[in-house]
Amino acid sequence: MSQQTLAVLDFGSQYTQVIARRIRECNVLSRIYPYSVSMEELKKDGVCGVILSGGPSSVLAKDAPLPDKKVFKLGVPVLGICYGVQLMGKLLGGEVARSERREYGRGAMTVKKKGKLLKGLPKTLKVWNSHGDKLTKIPKGFEVLAYTDNSENSVIADESRNFYGIQFHPEVHHSERGVDILKNFLFGVCKCKDDWKMANYIEMATEEIRKQVGDKRVILGLSGGVDSSVAAALIHRAIGDQLTCVFVDNGLLRKNEREKVEDLFKGHFHIDLRTVKAGNLFLSKLKGVTDPEKKRKIIGKVFIDVFDDAVKKIGDVDFLAQGTLYPDVIESVAIDGNPAALIKSHHNVGGLPKRMKLKLLEPLRELFKDEVRKLGEELGLPKEMIWRHPFPGPGLGVRVMGEIKRKYLTILKESDAIFLEEMKRTGYYDKVWQAFCVFLPVQTVGVMGDERTYDYVIALRVVESQDAMTADWAHIPHDVLGLISNRIINEVEGVNRVVLDISSKPPSTIEWE
Ligand code: XMP
Repeated sequence: MSQQTLAVLDFGSQYTQVIARRIRECNVLSRIYPYSVSMEELKKDGVCGVILSGGPSSVLAKDAPLPDKKVFKLGVPVLGICYGVQLMGKLLGGEVARSERREYGRGAMTVKKKGKLLKGLPKTLKVWNSHGDKLTKIPKGFEVLAYTDNSENSVIADESRNFYGIQFHPEVHHSERGVDILKNFLFGVCKCKDDWKMANYIEMATEEIRKQVGDKRVILGLSGGVDSSVAAALIHRAIGDQLTCVFVDNGLLRKNEREKVEDLFKGHFHIDLRTVKAGNLFLSKLKGVTDPEKKRKIIGKVFIDVFDDAVKKIGDVDFLAQGTLYPDVIESVAIDGNPAALIKSHHNVGGLPKRMKLKLLEPLRELFKDEVRKLGEELGLPKEMIWRHPFPGPGLGVRVMGEIKRKYLTILKESDAIFLEEMKRTGYYDKVWQAFCVFLPVQTVGVMGDERTYDYVIALRVVESQDAMTADWAHIPHDVLGLISNRIINEVEGVNRVVLDISSKPPSTIEWE
């Protein structure tokens, strides 16, 4: 394992994880520690530099979170970002005051002196600010490297002691050349080597999982999606048979989905996988229910009951593992120009660990989705699984409109399998965010051979999106669509009409229910 760890002390900023990620992108191992971490722990981990993150507090507040002051005696470079630079100012003898004008959003920074931190950068840069307090007097030994309209001490440095501070957020995309500033810190100041790879993460994570779990047993609800699959493979690598996975077949899965999951996890990875075939139970509870929200609630509740039951049967379990990712802070698009407004809510099964009195094991919580995919590749998961489109928790339950009937599910499964097969064969599957069929319980008249038919309608939904918050319908060539329509109508009994959904989100949603 690389001994060169860059420590990010977390003071609660929504960007802490983004800092850690940017550093990983530079092939340097970064770890996030609580702000109160002991210096012994940092030394033990072979820390080669420390970043004090931003945070929502004010250093002027009585209960402001403070790091161990010895962080400045650790003998490694320290970089304070936003709240971090204010902390530095306060703890090293400078002064911080409430700013008359809060500085949010993009601003212009002018370089006075480049020093090590701003080496190779142009004289002016657009940077992303988000702060109310500001450093009004820099501590002794520091000099100002750059200023913005609103803060005269935007970038400061004490090169003799290797302490640096940045008032804005170099880690967000909106800050021009922000990554170069971080690189200057990593390579110019901390002298890190760029030798860390995602493969190293496996080593580090397995060690941590072993430490956390000891000889106890872990249970994981496997859905077959990317996150739970990667979590299962990773945890299994760490603790082998101490992991049991439970796969609930709710009868609302796609064609052959259960078999695929079983083949991979039981057959290939030799994971202790328990499948619960609960399709009948789910369908009986859903009988006669047409309201989308009611359907979702029923599916969620029955899932928890079935899962709970399966865990009880397994016996002594201490941990519930989940493939939770770092809550998706979306970086690419800004609503109101402020990334703070872009935090997406999770669809995870809430309330489960509490009810089951289990401790949580979440080995992916520091990672972003694309990092999880890389990790999955390193762990040997097939490409097909890693690059799967998102599939909603309630499954086909929200893709059969209105009441769910066995016959409808069969039609939908068969149609969807053809649709996906053709999307994959023509290469469009990998180009779009999601593609799936929707079953409409509407019968229309058709003619097949010499006979009149009165059959159901299948809608094709294909969207392009970055993050599922907004989406546009994908422009798939007419000949591909024509072929898909032909195949579905010819091969799936009960369908005589295929339509294409050409609505964007908003105002529509991606799923129909
Ligand atoms: P909508 O339909 O709201 O979907 O535009 C946005 C994204 O979320 C997925 N989705 C879900 N995922 N549980 C999930 O895990 C759910 O209940 C659920 N509902 C929608 C949907 O497929 C799309 O990617």
